[in-house]
Amino acid sequence: MPHPFLTWLLAFALALLVHSSPVATDSDANQVPLSVSDSRRVYEYHNGELPPTENTDGWIDPRLNGGRFIDFTTRRLGEPLNIIISALSDPYVLEESGFLDYSKSIGFAGECMGLHYGNIHDADLGDGLGRKPEHMLIRQHYPIIGTCWESVRGGHHFRAWRQNGTLANSGAWFIGASKEKDSSKNHQIDKDGYNVGRDYFVEHATAGSHWQGKWWKAEVEWREGLMPRGRRGINHGIPVDGRVAILKINRL
Ligand SMILES: *[C@@H]1O[C@H](CO)[C@@H](O)[C@H](O)[C@H]1NC(C)=O
Repeated sequence: MPHPFLTWLLAFALALLVHSSPVATDSDANQVPLSVSDSRRVYEYHNGELPPTENTDGWIDPRLNGGRFIDFTTRRLGEPLNIIISALSDPYVLEESGFLDYSKSIGFAGECMGLHYGNIHDADLGDGLGRKPEHMLIRQHYPIIGTCWESVRGGHHFRAWRQNGTLANSGAWFIGASKEKDSSKNHQIDKDGYNVGRDYFVEHATAGSHWQGKWWKAEVEWREGLMPRGRRGINHGIPVDGRVAILKINRL
């Protein structure tokens, strides 16, 4: 056993070191997940995540400027931004109204009668606008009863943010897609609901679609390394496979 005074001295010195350390944060900041810019020195790329990619066509890696591919659902947890609609797509779908039409063409419709179920999520696309609230929330459309049915029964939905701040003004849509259980489960995400929600969107986009005389077909490029695999930091603790689908939606 070391002398009690020595033990005490050691503890005191350690406390002093931690307190004065540049990486020490106050207790409030501890609640917030680290972003690349907050913590460039201590940031590690876990579970398949790779450093930010430069020179991508039609979108800009949000991580180049402190953003990330996980949205901010709560202070600690987020949902994956698992689809990008590249700015090389049909200019029509890069506008809000055109994108709504496009969403309808692949089996989605706007939020039920303006009622908003679920919280607004923020995302940081590294475009200089910081954490910004979603621009659109789109839910799956059931032809017979309409969008409202989805709100009761659960189903596919996605949130979209446009990368249009001056620091990264690509005009691409960043999308968090997922599949929900029915509302008796309070809009919980299905087991594997993030991967499933993404794949549903991609399958319909690449199969080709049309709406009011406009026809589209998407090309997909799959990317790994933009976000970590697994459930760490993910809302509801549902694991993600870490893949992002980059879609170029061509007008036919
Ligand atoms: C970015 O795009 C969204 C969605 O269309 C729009 O609501 C917002 O005003 C735009 N912001 C800027 C800075 O252009």
